[in-house]
Amino acid sequence: MGKKRIISIIGLGYVGLASALGFGLKGHKIIGIDSDQDKVRLINGKTVPIYEKGMVEALASAEISATTDYKQVLASEMTFICVDTPSDEDGVIFLGSIKKSTEQIVDTLQDKGDYHLVVIKSTVVPMTTEEIIIPIMKAKAGVRGRDWGVCVNPEFLREGRALEDFLHPDRIIIGEGDRKSGDLLQELYSDFEAPILRTDLRTAEMIKYASNAFLATKLSFINEIGNLCKKMNIDVYQVAGGMGYDERIGRKFLNAGIGFGGSCLPKDLRALIAKARQIGYEPRLLEEVLRLNEKQVTNLVQLLQKHVSLKGACVGFLGLAFKPGTDDVRDSRAIPVVQALLQEGATVKAYDPLAMANFKALFPQIYYVTAEEVLNCDAILIITEWEEFNHLDYTGKVVIDGRGIEKAREASIYEGICW
Ligand SMILES: NC(=O)c1ccc[n+]([C@@H]2O[C@H](COP(=O)([O-])OP(=O)(O)OC[C@H]3O[C@@H](n4cnc5c(N)ncnc54)[C@H](O)[C@@H]3O)[C@@H](O)[C@H]2O)c1
Repeated sequence: MGKKRIISIIGLGYVGLASALGFGLKGHKIIGIDSDQDKVRLINGKTVPIYEKGMVEALASAEISATTDYKQVLASEMTFICVDTPSDEDGVIFLGSIKKSTEQIVDTLQDKGDYHLVVIKSTVVPMTTEEIIIPIMKAKAGVRGRDWGVCVNPEFLREGRALEDFLHPDRIIIGEGDRKSGDLLQELYSDFEAPILRTDLRTAEMIKYASNAFLATKLSFINEIGNLCKKMNIDVYQVAGGMGYDERIGRKFLNAGIGFGGSCLPKDLRALIAKARQIGYEPRLLEEVLRLNEKQVTNLVQLLQKHVSLKGACVGFLGLAFKPGTDDVRDSRAIPVVQALLQEGATVKAYDPLAMANFKALFPQIYYVTAEEVLNCDAILIITEWEEFNHLDYTGKVVIDGRGIEKAREASIYEGICW
């Protein structure tokens, strides 16, 4: 069992809050810092601002205080940066939050006499820590506050089971700027049951991108096979089952469908592609993975148009979240589909067990209804594989399925996107 530490965590979103609660449950004292005052107020009132399994109970028991004040970093021994790193319109990673956060940490560390560890947990493209973050720290560091170390410690949790994944990771990657910093971070993780791999900074950054790019590739791969299967009347789910027995392949991430969304896979793929181009390499495979993913949306809309004329039609959506178990709609496949249908003059009615409020912030003009009301539309699209969609009555309906919901096959007109 490692020493109990005082840890500051910057950015209390999915990753930051999971890290805060996870380390908190391990007995460490946590100071959470977020620029969003509402979030800070909620967390201090023991309310979890996002939907994530197990977080309410964890927040009730862990020792966590939240604040907007970076000065609180001084009371901690180490700081994890978990702020957002979205991509801009060209796919290039946007580092505004992480740069600002680093500057504020270093400003604060001027007043600290002893060693402090800064850990980059946000996803950043390879070489960002060496070429951007460390130079900011060096430029800003005054006479004091020079005794700091840097590690890159990418996070691999899945939304919907963020805390569980944080506590039980498949592996822990420690990219270390120096041995002392790596040793300290390894000690912090000593009571986690997972292999620990220590690397240099840029390798740790690349491991995160390579992992997400591989998962995205696996999905676009099975979607391509699925598109082929559909033309030959072959069930791609049976094909995936047959492939999955091969331990070199594995069954996971072989569910053909409308494609991948969410806050990570699409943006990380775009950011890696942009980085590759920036250093003079054309990443053709990765570009095609992304193109195939976008094409699945067009395929779904075209299938729908085979069965209904969109102008004036009522189209019902089952699912808005980017995947089941979360209320997150960032880069959800529902977004481009709704956009396309509105453009064609359709009326959209939608149901999702968790994500309607978040989707409404993006699309206030569509109707948010019950699942039963969705079933009364002229045609129904299945966008998210929520388990409850396996318990609806689809008889007599027109269903275009983007996710492989078995029960929907009873509809009078049923088409799967790749089956
Ligand atoms: N969401 C995931 O499933 C997941 C998984 C692995 C890695 N990641 C990566 O982790 C990072 C965080 O992702 P997330 O989904 O938790 O993001 P998020 O948007 O849910 O949370 C980011 C938080 O940082 C806060 N913030 C932004 N700038 C700040 C600043 N200067 N000072 C203090 N707080 C600030 C925001 O208010 C927000 O609460 C990203 O780099 C992401 O790619 C995300």
